[in-house]
This record gives sequence, C-alpha cells and structure tokens, in this order.
Amino acid sequence: MKIDLEYAEFYKKLEELSAWKEKAEKALETLKGFVADGSQPVGWLTLPEDYDKDEIARIRDAAARIRQQCEVFVVIGVGGSYLGARSAMDFLWGKDRNAFRKEGPAICFAGTDLDGEELARLLEYCEGKSVCVNVISKSGTTTEPAVAFRFFRGWMEEKYGKEAASRIFVTTDERPRPGTLKELALKEGYECFKVPGNIGGRYSVLSAVGLLPIAVSGADLGALLDGAAKAKEEFTNNPFETNLCMQYAAMRNLFYNDGKKLELFSFFRPAADAIGEWLKQLFAESEGKEGKGIYPCSAVYTRDLHSIGQYVQEGERMFFETMVLFDPALSDPTVPNAAENVDGLNYLAGKNLSYINDNAAKATCLAHSNGGVPVLCLRFPRPSEECLGYLYYFFELACALSGTMLGINPFDQPGVEQYKTEMFRNLGKPGYTK
Ligand code: PA5
Repeated sequence: MKIDLEYAEFYKKLEELSAWKEKAEKALETLKGFVADGSQPVGWLTLPEDYDKDEIARIRDAAARIRQQCEVFVVIGVGGSYLGARSAMDFLWGKDRNAFRKEGPAICFAGTDLDGEELARLLEYCEGKSVCVNVISKSGTTTEPAVAFRFFRGWMEEKYGKEAASRIFVTTDERPRPGTLKELALKEGYECFKVPGNIGGRYSVLSAVGLLPIAVSGADLGALLDGAAKAKEEFTNNPFETNLCMQYAAMRNLFYNDGKKLELFSFFRPAADAIGEWLKQLFAESEGKEGKGIYPCSAVYTRDLHSIGQYVQEGERMFFETMVLFDPALSDPTVPNAAENVDGLNYLAGKNLSYINDNAAKATCLAHSNGGVPVLCLRFPRPSEECLGYLYYFFELACALSGTMLGINPFDQPGVEQYKTEMFRNLGKPGYTK
C-alpha cells in the first residue's frame, strides 16, 4: 500500500509529523507490552500468525456443509459481531451478492436492531427455504441478537424439529466460564466456535466471528489471513520512517490536535460502503471517550459527491478526509462507441470505467484540497481476499495506536452501557429498577 500526501501538502502542519514519531513508537511498544502481560485484549495483534488451526479447519468444514445444506444462511449479531462479515461480503462479492450469486446460499443479517418489520420480512423470506443460522455474540447476552435468535430458534425448531440443532451454529466467548449462549448451545447440541477472550468485538473480524460467514460466502480464508499476516509483518516491525500504519496514526493525532475533530473516510467503490460502517464502529467505539476522539464518518463516491459533496467542498472546515482507494478490479468494462453520438459521450468511448473513476478520484482530491480539506489517499492493491485481510489489520492497528497516542483505552466501550441500562429500566428487566 501507499499513502499519497499530494493533496494534503498545503496543510503545513503535516511538516511536523516527525515530532509524533516517539509517541507512535511508544504506542506500538505499549501494545506489544499488552501482548506480553495479557492486561488488555490485544489477541488480534498476533492473530494472523497464531490463530487456532483446528478451529479454522472446523470453520471450513462447517462452511462447506452450510453451503451444501441451505439456501439461506442467517447471520445474527450486532456491532463487532456483525460488521466485519458484512463488510467482507459486500467488498468481495458486491452489495447485491444475494441477487447475483451463482452459488452458495443467500446470506442475510439479523439482530442488528429491534425493528419488527425487518425481522418479519426476513422470516417470511425464509418460508419454504432450507435455512441455517449462525448466532454471534461474544457476551452472549446482547439484547438485539438475543431477541432475533429467540425468534429464529423457535422458527427452526418448528420447521426442523430435532434436526434444527445441526443447522444452528454459535460463535461466542467461553471465558472465564460458559456464558448464557454457550450454555444454551451445550444443552441443545449446537456446534460452537469461539470468540477468543483476548479479542474484543470490533477487532474480531479475523476470528470465527467474521471467518465463518465469510467462508460461507465462498471466500478464500487462507488468502484473507495471509493478507493480514503481511500487514502484521510490515507494521509491527518497521520503524516509523517506513511504517505507514504508525505514520497514519500519527497524522490522525496531528490533525486532531490542530482542531480537525472529524475524519471522513471516502471510497470510490460502492462495494466498500460497509467497510465505511466497519471503520466507523472501529474508530468511534475505540476512541470516543473521556470527551475526546475523532468523529468518524464515511462516504461513497461518486454517489455522495451529489449529496454531502457540497458540504465537503464548502461547509465548515473541521475535518480531514481519508480516501481509501484500490487498484482496478479484474472486471473493468469499456465505454462503447455509438455511431450517432447523441448523448455526447463518444469522448469516453474505448475508455475503461476504472480510468474514468480514477479521474473522478483525482478531480475530487484536487477540488477538496482546493476547498481547504487535507486529503490523505490510502492506496491499496486490487480488491481481493488478501487485500481485505491486509486492510483490516492495517486499520485495527492504526486505531489501537491512534487511541493509545490520544491517551484513552481503545479496547473498552463504557459509554455503550448507558443506553442499555435506561432501556432495561424501561422494559422492566429483572435487576433494573425505574
Ligand atoms: O466492539 C464491541 O465490543 C461491540 O461493538 C460488540 O461487538 C457489540 O456490542 C456486540 O457485542 P456481543 O458480541 O457481546 O453481542
């Protein structure tokens, strides 16, 4: 990968980047220290090398059975137990995978909210089809997936009777002792996969949390993990001067210190939309605490140039933009020539869409930087499983480094509990008084 700073050069503060070197290196040492002493959940840092080989073999085996056995695979989870798989699926196969796929089951997501209409639609869609379910919850007690799973468990038991157990897969933590979901799985005989105790939800895409649904979609897990291993090698060993991950984490802190409180992640690929969602969750839940943190938001261009593009160009200047670009994908149609040039597009005839898209990207960079927005261009290779694994690792490490430099704990999320407490009080959950 590369970081292209051409469109951030006008932002003179960036010249002070080397002043952040020591802090960035110290942050990496701190993270490595957590690996050694186990005091923070940083299992994801070494995961591309020390993942459980037997677990991966079981994941591949279960995925093959699911692909063969069902027409609809329902993945139930929220937050970090959902966004990794969702982002990988869309990135690798496109947002319309379910409609366009040539093989494998449709993959549908549930448990991300409490909307009855969504759930009812999905249950109706499943009627008359062969279904398997993967419920994913590290804690095993999160309300949204727990409620959705209660509906699906009932539905599966009614439809399949005892056979339901062989169609339900559970991904959950089992430390320090089996939790609610694990206990249920043991009682009912569901196959279980583990969320390692030392990996938090938003850092878990390369564990069973993401890997089982990603494998069911038909992706190559080996290439995904290889990509992550490559990133690990590069970003946990190289010094600041050649370490793009440390440099990016340092740039984020530099911008933030200089009053840029918001980071806009932008893409020129609709298939990367859900990577934007994954990034928002990763950074917001990791950094937004103690009255600090960069607010992450995302856009997909050129679509959003026709909406928030106006604001980016001329609105308040309180943000910087991180443009995440990829080399052209394999399929790259050419604009056809038209005998009668009625639409006036023959000036593009013979050009690939990637050529036009790249020019749109360059033009956007120029326009936004001229408008006073520093644009960092992060250039990744051609979209593939390997590229994706590399990207996940890059951003997970960048987030942990950046949060550590900011002086907060990037691995907890105390604020998420507030709404839950209020909701449980309203709903009269035992133990919560009004
Ligand atoms: O990153 C996190 O820790 C959270 O976003 C969790 O993934 C999310 O709250 C879901 O939690 P659980 O997997 O315990 O159901």
